[in-house]
Amino acid sequence: QAQPRPLAAKPKDEPDPDDGRQRVVIFFGTQTGTAEGFAKALAEEAKARYDRAVFKVVDLDDYAAEDEEYEEKLKKENIALFFLATYGDGEPTDNAARFYKWFSEGNERGEWLSNLRFGVFGLGNRQYEHFNKIGKMVDQLLAEQGGKRIVPVGLGDDDQCIEDDFNAWKELLWPELDKLLRQEDDSSAAATPYTAAIPEYRVVFVKPEDATNINKSFSLSNGHAVYDIQHPCRANVAVRRELHTPASDRSCIHLEFDIAGTGLKYETGDHVGVYAENCIEIVEEAEKVLGYSPDTLFSIYADQEDGTPLCGGSLPPPFPSPCTVRTALTRYADLLNSPKKSALLALAAHASDPKEAERLRHLASPAGKKEYSQWIVMSQRSLLEVMSEFPSAKPPLGVFFAAISPRLQPRYYSISSSPRMAPTRIHVTCALVYGPTPTGRIHKGVCSTWMKHSTPLEESQECSWAPIFVRQSNFKLPADPNVPIVMIGPGTGLAPFRGFLQERLALKEAGVELGHAILFFGCRNRKMDFIYEDELNNFVDTGALSELIVAFSREGPTKEYVQHKMAQKAAELWSIISQGGYIYVCGDAKGMARDVHRTLHTIIQEQGSLDNSKTESYVKSLQTEGRYLRDVW
Ligand code: 2AM
Repeated sequence: QAQPRPLAAKPKDEPDPDDGRQRVVIFFGTQTGTAEGFAKALAEEAKARYDRAVFKVVDLDDYAAEDEEYEEKLKKENIALFFLATYGDGEPTDNAARFYKWFSEGNERGEWLSNLRFGVFGLGNRQYEHFNKIGKMVDQLLAEQGGKRIVPVGLGDDDQCIEDDFNAWKELLWPELDKLLRQEDDSSAAATPYTAAIPEYRVVFVKPEDATNINKSFSLSNGHAVYDIQHPCRANVAVRRELHTPASDRSCIHLEFDIAGTGLKYETGDHVGVYAENCIEIVEEAEKVLGYSPDTLFSIYADQEDGTPLCGGSLPPPFPSPCTVRTALTRYADLLNSPKKSALLALAAHASDPKEAERLRHLASPAGKKEYSQWIVMSQRSLLEVMSEFPSAKPPLGVFFAAISPRLQPRYYSISSSPRMAPTRIHVTCALVYGPTPTGRIHKGVCSTWMKHSTPLEESQECSWAPIFVRQSNFKLPADPNVPIVMIGPGTGLAPFRGFLQERLALKEAGVELGHAILFFGCRNRKMDFIYEDELNNFVDTGALSELIVAFSREGPTKEYVQHKMAQKAAELWSIISQGGYIYVCGDAKGMARDVHRTLHTIIQEQGSLDNSKTESYVKSLQTEGRYLRDVW
């Protein structure tokens, strides 16, 4: 019974103060809320430090309706701070995409930002090739376009402790802001050290007989003209099938969501976002740890009874309520990721045993940095595991949902069907995430576990369903179907190519002439995880696919990967590339996509007899022309 996520209340753009106070604008480009949280936390702390300034936290998408407006408004800003996350293959977040595109095409504007002082904090993960690309690029572009950098770009690394990186960056920022926002005689300059208040929603317990509007059913149409992350669409699971053979010790699920009659549309190559539920064992454990009975009914608010926003309006809108503790924990609580340091502090504040409180505070402190890193991050201790080690910490629900458990995020999958073949279905190809962590806990991925145990309509009218939405991508077939293509997708990286091939088959059946298409697929063993084998052979038989090349990594004495097969086909690949063909790569970003990239580089260098730097610029031009596309995670 999921309900539509509330649309974040958009703050009205209040007029600038005419009381002489300086305006500081704090922009965020956020996907899961971390950048937004940092932006708001910085604003709260800054408000406490500087009374001669006003701080505005602004979603980059909301700042300007059109590109010209970005220019007009930015010109007038004096101080701007940017919190920018980098996603996927070095991409901006959805809400920063329009700004980023416009800003990075602005070389001809000259030094038009000479009024602006700026600072950028990037959020990324060092395990990825394009670590913090967006933060670094915007920092560089701001300087090139005349802005004055007041603090070096912060490179937040989510692989370690991004909160520490944020705190370190803030320490560099304050002295610079002091110079800009304080006067020498300013008495508040010697302010007492700031401690952030623990955010808390207002919770009201509801008697069952008083709960009139519990949203029992989630209607097919959600009342909005478009479906998006805040307004997902309820979709039934029509089909669920295991793709691995019983010989495999892993699992990969083929799942079909039924979208008939919903109005939800997609294109080949798009992504589907899925809001899954925590599995029942995890939810029951959370109920125990928190000390609430599952049927407890409550309503949750981000404002006081008189409508005054709590925490200065920095709390995200709460989930729909009234609902039971069971529902809230099942649908909205992220229980399996490691807790942030701010969550430990919130737990400490509600630990009745002083020893436990002290240890929690220590873990969150600079002195406990190493322990936090080892005991929490490296051991992949989940929030639930940590909470069960501190049994005296019993936070109230309002604190738990505001400060301890982040909101459960939708999971994204590359859609593995084409609307030309499956107009009323969205197909997903999902590898089960299942394995032991260093503490011996068996980690079960939230969404893949939900999919694996879902009940399809094929089996029961009481089938499973989830709120879903479609996210557009630029991972698309060439507009001209006659252009040759090369697809590289081992494992579940095959997903979008199954969609591509369905599309090509539909075109072929409609009499369209198709260009050459090669697919490189990789798996461990033909007898275990050669997913969609029959379908792929059928694509070859029907001519939708010209060549299917499979690398089996665990059949022979040595590992054979897709890139080894590519190297054997170097001349053919070069001929396709030099004829204007397209290259597509989908799958794991950290290992596979990086190795495939290197192999592609080598092929172009050797076959084209180019030197290293010419090869670099050749590959770059393939990327800018949109002929080398990657859908990697
Ligand atoms: P492995 O698990 O035997 O190492 C799909 O996951 C396939 O991709 C598997 O056959 C897997 O092989 C292979 N794979 C793992 N790492 C890879 C890499 N860096 N490049 C290409 N393929 C890889």
